[in-house]
Amino acid sequence: MKVGILISGGGSNMVALVNAMQAGRVSATPALVLSNRPGAAGLAKARALGVPVAIVDHTAFPSRRAFDSGVHRTLRAHHVDMVCLAGFMRILGRRMVGTWQGNMLNIHPSLLPKYRGLNTHARAIEAGDTEAGATVHRVTAELDDGPILAQARVPILSGDTPDTLAARVLKEEHRIYPQALAQALRERLGMPPEPPI
Ligand code: GRF
Repeated sequence: MKVGILISGGGSNMVALVNAMQAGRVSATPALVLSNRPGAAGLAKARALGVPVAIVDHTAFPSRRAFDSGVHRTLRAHHVDMVCLAGFMRILGRRMVGTWQGNMLNIHPSLLPKYRGLNTHARAIEAGDTEAGATVHRVTAELDDGPILAQARVPILSGDTPDTLAARVLKEEHRIYPQALAQALRERLGMPPEPPI
């Protein structure tokens, strides 16, 4: 199975996914890292890991739909079977999401269904929540929605800022995203879930 990872920024989740595949903890090949931002720091990390990279710059397309087809064609050209959105900051259209339905995952830094959208950590602190976390889910046409594959919880500590909380959550993201990808691949192949150890 070939996995394509879509990024817009630092790409630490992408690195966690690639490491897991290259170490054999996830039985798949990282076939492509695609960024919509030419300056994304994750691109250099992907190159250093030996993963093919592509830039599909959304500003070069006349419409959202044209951008989506550019992304789709690039994924197909690299024979991608499963897509992981990893800090990919563009909303994909209904048609694109429908084409990949069941084979596209996203990680979101909140305990969904709480805090869809942006600034999740600031919103959780502001609300006085005692815990925060991250969610890996299948992508559907609704933003940050769709069947949940994995969640991790962390405490919110007194004195936390959005940055300190984000760092705590990010560590958990790197743990659960490879696990959730492995599970999605097994399901796609019709295999039973990993037996508990
Ligand atoms: C992560 O917190 C992810 O959940 C969110 O954006 C951040 C991306 O971080 N969607 P990175 O690019 O994987 O380092």
